[in-house]
Amino acid sequence: MHEATLRDRVAELLTASDRSNVPPFMVMDVMSAAERIEAAGGHVIHMEVGQPAAPAPRTAIAAARAALDFGRIDYTSALGIPSLRERIARHYHDTYGCAVDPGRIVVTTGSSGGFILAFLAMFEPGDRVAVTVPGYPPYRHILTALGCEPVLIETSGETRHALTGDTLLAMHRKSPLKGVLVGSPANPTGTMMSREALTHLMEAAQSAGIRFISDEIYHGLDYAFPAVTAAELSERALVINSFSKYFCMTGWRIGWMVVPDPLVRPIERLQQNLAISVPTLSQIAAEAAFDGREEMEAVKRGYVENRRILIEGLPKAGLTKFLPADGAFYLYADVSDFTADSFEFAKRMLEQAQVAATPGVDFDPFHGRNFIRFCYARSADDMREAVARIARWLG
Ligand SMILES: Cc1ncc(COP(=O)(O)O)c(C=O)c1O
Repeated sequence: MHEATLRDRVAELLTASDRSNVPPFMVMDVMSAAERIEAAGGHVIHMEVGQPAAPAPRTAIAAARAALDFGRIDYTSALGIPSLRERIARHYHDTYGCAVDPGRIVVTTGSSGGFILAFLAMFEPGDRVAVTVPGYPPYRHILTALGCEPVLIETSGETRHALTGDTLLAMHRKSPLKGVLVGSPANPTGTMMSREALTHLMEAAQSAGIRFISDEIYHGLDYAFPAVTAAELSERALVINSFSKYFCMTGWRIGWMVVPDPLVRPIERLQQNLAISVPTLSQIAAEAAFDGREEMEAVKRGYVENRRILIEGLPKAGLTKFLPADGAFYLYADVSDFTADSFEFAKRMLEQAQVAATPGVDFDPFHGRNFIRFCYARSADDMREAVARIARWLG
């Protein structure tokens, strides 16, 4: 074959698919800039990345150590270790007083692995799936990569950034929706849906045959009022959760879903083929994590204090507008009094005050330029220092 033709053929083979063309996370740019400042001797207060500073529960780490000492780490069944699935089901009884059949629990590789399985099992390519904005970007990017159409629905402060049944149905009338995904407590807003708001939305979705997915990854981190699980309200909802946030196990990559009965077997077949099973060591640690709740409640009390420091301190520092910090560990601040470009604002705040936060553009293509997200999952001293630095910088 002619050399040029061969080169063309190779180039063709290496062209990435259109579906892989998803946007990057801008927070990564903030992180890299923070690293450069630290390499030059600066001391950055990290409030950009949404992960706990505390380690996994001691019980989880001990269980993983014991498993390593035993030696063999085998595959497990695709749906997860049976005792872990039973322990997760018991968690629903203990925490929410609701009965969930362990047979409906699917262990996943973080909630991120859960989204892929859920979307594949629930939707066809081309299906329209509603997600709220501001919202967690991978919802829409994973849907896009799988050939579905994410339908962005804006929420507002009037409804505490909760999607209402009326808005959902109005969107559905314009062009039919196959599904809807909401999260409460939410990232990046930190807002939560009341029992009433969640119930109305789920009833509206059910009345129109719209499949319902509830991302409950920040459950356990609720401050304003108790979080309600969609599993309690309907057996037709698909619930996604994770050990990443409340249990401080981000890097262990372990989560779970509560799935409607008819989807258990299809999801099992998908998991068998896509992953065989979820990392065994992490499953063993996750089961033991439930025995470390006391330790995790102490971590949560730290977030409560951090939240108090920010809610009291940021207005004095000059940031007076933010959404109700109901849950998770995020505070979403409106910086439109200072800038029309929150990316540039976050960059300057990092360079000049050495406080790293995430610009809202990652989460909201419409109004994100007016917002930045602070994560308050680190120490109280860090929070006090951040408030003092921002006060000096803006003052
Ligand atoms: C709202 C939300 N859902 C899901 C995830 C994914 O978490 P993981 O895959 O670690 O469970 C995150 C991570 O930040 C998140 O904020």
